[in-house]
Amino acid sequence: MYFQVQKQNVYFAVSRLYFLITLEMLMGGPMYFYQLVYLSILCIACCSLPERVLGEPPLNLQMESQNFQHILSWQAKSDPTVLTYYRVLYSDRRNWMAAKQCSNITQLSCNLTDDFEDTHAQYLALVQSFIGTEVFNSSVLDFEPLTDTFLGPPEVNISSCLNCINVTIKLPACHLRKNEKLCSLIDIYKELDYIITLKTLDEEHKVKNFLFYWCVRGEIQKA
Ligand SMILES: *[C@@H]1O[C@H](CO)[C@@H](O)[C@H](O)[C@H]1NC(C)=O
Ligand SMILES: *[C@@H]1O[C@H](CO)[C@@H](O)[C@H](O)[C@H]1NC(C)=O
Ligand SMILES: *[C@@H]1O[C@H](CO)[C@@H](O)[C@H](O)[C@H]1NC(C)=O
Ligand SMILES: *[C@@H]1O[C@H](CO)[C@@H](O)[C@H](O)[C@H]1NC(C)=O
Ligand SMILES: *[C@@H]1O[C@H](CO)[C@@H](O)[C@H](O)[C@H]1NC(C)=O
Repeated sequence: MYFQVQKQNVYFAVSRLYFLITLEMLMGGPMYFYQLVYLSILCIACCSLPERVLGEPPLNLQMESQNFQHILSWQAKSDPTVLTYYRVLYSDRRNWMAAKQCSNITQLSCNLTDDFEDTHAQYLALVQSFIGTEVFNSSVLDFEPLTDTFLGPPEVNISSCLNCINVTIKLPACHLRKNEKLCSLIDIYKELDYIITLKTLDEEHKVKNFLFYWCVRGEIQKA
């Protein structure tokens, strides 16, 4: 530590000496001291310029995914007066590709529904921000449509019939397009199960166990 400080002093002494000599030689008058102060300030300004933060990578990547509609969003800390363009890249763990609708955008979200067309793939996604001539990469987000998309809610109708309750369930629409047709969740999962719980005032019966956890309330009056 002691040696480092000494070394710095020597360095400054030498660089000042250098200025003193050159300025004295150039100006030849008493002005050199002010010039030196001015030059030192200028130098500090120059040296601190690269440390000024003009932009940062996009932060807090989040995927909101329901029934295979995938919306990626992020946050930006960059100066709002500086125009920033974003590009979303994704990978199926082989190549990185630019998202179709998000290769040069200014908004902080991207619809990746049409890009993540393989429901069983394990995707990676990142967002690049372009600020002036600089490019920043966000962190990488892992996403697996089959397990990470949120399913529901199903459409449920409840009606009464003679000595029975009629529960009709329709699967939620899936947003993925296959050959111009919207997919069906049954095509993807082959089997989907429901929990249907029948509650009376004093009892609770679980009719079937399973995957959907949406609460639908229907009241049937006893005749
Ligand atoms: C991105 O879009 C802006 C405005 O539309 C345009 O000026 C710029 O050249 C585009 N950049 C690229 C790399 O396409
Ligand atoms: C996202 O893209 C899908 C497929 O193109 C479309 O059906 C859906 O409406 C879009 N969602 C939003 C929020 O733009
Ligand atoms: C950003 O990520 C892409 C994809 O992994 C990579 O090709 C590129 O070199 C990265 N750029 C920077 C500035 O890290
Ligand atoms: C239950 O509801 C469905 C759809 O409304 C109807 O087609 C069916 O006949 C009903 N079943 C009974 C036993 O009422
Ligand atoms: C529920 O009932 C409404 C109104 O009668 C009908 O439009 C809808 O298709 C029904 N849904 C199901 C899942 O049966």
